[in-house]
Amino acid sequence: MSSLAVLHAAQLVTLTGAKRARIGPELSELGIISDGGMLIRDGKLERVGLSDEIEKNIGDAEVVDAGGRAVMPGFVDAHTHLVFAGNRLDDFERRSRGETYEQIAKAGGGIWSTVQKTRAASEVDLLARATKYATWFLRCGTTTVEAKSGYGLTVEDELKILRVMRQLKQEVRLEIVPTFLGAHAVPRELSPDEYLDVVVTEMLPHVTAEKLAEFCDVFCERGYFDIDQSRKILSAAKKVGLSLRGHVDQLTNSGGAKLMAEMSATTADHLEQTDEQGIAALSKANVQPVLLPGSVYALGSSRYPRAREMIEAGLAIVLATDFNPGSSPTPSMPMVLSLACTQMKMSPAEAITASTVNAAYSLNRGDKIGCLEPGKLANFVIFDCEDYRELAYWFGMPQTHSVYVRGDCIV
Ligand code: NIG
Ligand code: FE
Repeated sequence: MSSLAVLHAAQLVTLTGAKRARIGPELSELGIISDGGMLIRDGKLERVGLSDEIEKNIGDAEVVDAGGRAVMPGFVDAHTHLVFAGNRLDDFERRSRGETYEQIAKAGGGIWSTVQKTRAASEVDLLARATKYATWFLRCGTTTVEAKSGYGLTVEDELKILRVMRQLKQEVRLEIVPTFLGAHAVPRELSPDEYLDVVVTEMLPHVTAEKLAEFCDVFCERGYFDIDQSRKILSAAKKVGLSLRGHVDQLTNSGGAKLMAEMSATTADHLEQTDEQGIAALSKANVQPVLLPGSVYALGSSRYPRAREMIEAGLAIVLATDFNPGSSPTPSMPMVLSLACTQMKMSPAEAITASTVNAAYSLNRGDKIGCLEPGKLANFVIFDCEDYRELAYWFGMPQTHSVYVRGDCIV
């Protein structure tokens, strides 16, 4: 039995509380213990409390002195596109000259250009790239990511991406939750309805037979999949036992939030254009919004989702990076916290809750990760600051001191 004691955290941000995603004023309750400590046995938290009390029960545990730093659960990033080839530097430069996401996609950039590179890449190559990005996440203090397929758009290439994720899980300490996003775009060689048929009748059966994904996602947007097509895909996925997430109302308000409510999805993601009716629908159906301010920022837009209204409507809000080569090339949750506070008027405490415990519940893992309490996995980060608010305040400055996954120091 291996045991570890962490002592003298200036703030031990436990996020202990209700055994469900947090809403309203609960989003501000971080359960902070000053001069806190933890006792860890076999990768799980056994005791959490005042350093003095932990010290009395230390036994033969190895001691880590947090040295008056802030200690928090590892970030849970509930929306990433982790596996892809190439980059989108040309799109980036065009956007800097004022072209929009949609214009660039029409001119040969966008998702399609990443699809072509990803199709041409071998599993070995994709694995090497994803391993590098997994390291980036860990260095930013993220210990779990959700990862979507979606840059293959053929049966073979979507399965290739999902298998790379499965392989990656064996090779890195970052925890990975796979999502099937076959409906990320319509491939050039098929009509929308032909491709929809491939997604439903060919891809989904393979994905479920090989247990390659826990969730199914769809890009519901003008020029991608409309409401009816999205409903068909999500219904088919639900029938075969996948939980649902969706890219909705990102560029236009097409009623995507309402669709996710109708489908009893786990999350509705993006929501930059969602209005009060969409927010009310999500609230009624208990769907968690996943807000992605990194993509708004990187696309050079100023239309952030209406986080305050969502919180007031009682939604269990989640923040994520949307890590991808096109619209959000960042693995940094601290950057997302900064954007949430400065652009969406969330408080630093609300942003922390949204990126840890609430994100964990959105991945059906609230019983294992996202807060620091006995029985949970010892996935935590020591940050080189004393106060959790510094994470959102000093932006663009990595403050990770060390990162632990299941009790092992890996950064
Ligand atoms: O979440 N909106 C669709 N998918 C991604 C963008 C992917 C890409 O541009 O490659 C997003 O923003
Ligand atoms: Fe996305």
